[in-house]
Amino acid sequence: MGLDLKENVIAIDGWAGSGKGSLTKALAKTFKIPAIDSGAIYRFITYYFDAQNQIENDGFLQKLQALNLKYRIDNVLHQVCFYYNNENIENYIRTPKISEHVSYFSALKSVRNYTTQFLRTIQNFTPLVMDGRDIGTCVYPKAVIKFFIVADIKMRTERRLKQLLAKGITCEYEDIYHNLLQRDKIDSHRDFCPLTKAHDAYQIDNTNITESEFIEHAKNYIIKQNATHFFIK
Ligand code: C5P
Repeated sequence: MGLDLKENVIAIDGWAGSGKGSLTKALAKTFKIPAIDSGAIYRFITYYFDAQNQIENDGFLQKLQALNLKYRIDNVLHQVCFYYNNENIENYIRTPKISEHVSYFSALKSVRNYTTQFLRTIQNFTPLVMDGRDIGTCVYPKAVIKFFIVADIKMRTERRLKQLLAKGITCEYEDIYHNLLQRDKIDSHRDFCPLTKAHDAYQIDNTNITESEFIEHAKNYIIKQNATHFFIK
C-alpha cells in the first residue's frame, strides 16, 4: 500500500496512564492540528448510563443512538471538545467511579460501534492526532503514523495520582494502581477491538525518560518516517 492511501492521522494507542494524552497534546501543538481524546467518549457513555443505573438491554442501543453528542474543534487550543446539551463533558468524566466502570461499557459491541463511527466523522480530511486503545487497529487502520505507548505500572500510577490530585480529585495510590491494571486487562481481553499493538505501530516505553525526552523521541520518529507533510494544513 502506498503512502498516498494513508489517512493523515497520528494514532496513539497504549496502556492506561502511559502518557498518551500528554503526547497527543504536544503533537497537536507542534503540528497545529486537533488533538482528540477518544477515551473521553467512552467515559461519557459510562457516566450517562451509570447515572441511570442502566446496563445493556433492549432499549440500550436506541438510547445510545439518541445521545446526540456534539464536537467543536478549538483551533486555538488545538483540540476537539465534546458537548452534551451544550455542556463540555470534561466536567463529569474523570472521577474514580467512571474509571472503575468504563472498561465494562467500552467492551460492549454497541458502544464500540457507536463511538468508532462518531470518531470517524471527525476526520473529514482534516489532519489530526487521536489517542485511545484501538485507533491504529480499528478506528484509523490506515493512519500514516501509529504509536504504541507503554510504561511501568508504578510510574504510571505515580503520574496519574499527581494529575488527579492537581485537578482536586481525591484518590489513593493503591486504588489507581489496581484500576490501571484492571482496565488494561479488561481492555486487552475484550472481544471487539481489544487493546493491542498494531503490527505497524512504533512502540515507546517511557518509564525511564522525561516527558520532554518522550515527546522529542516521538517527533523524531515522525521526521524519520518523512511524514511531517501529512500534518501540515
Ligand atoms: O484513555 P482513557 O484512559 O481515558 O480511556 C478510558 C477507557 O475507555 C479505557 O480504559 C478503555 O476501556 C476505553 N477506551 C477504549 N478505546 C479507546 C479509548 C478508550 O476502549 N479508543
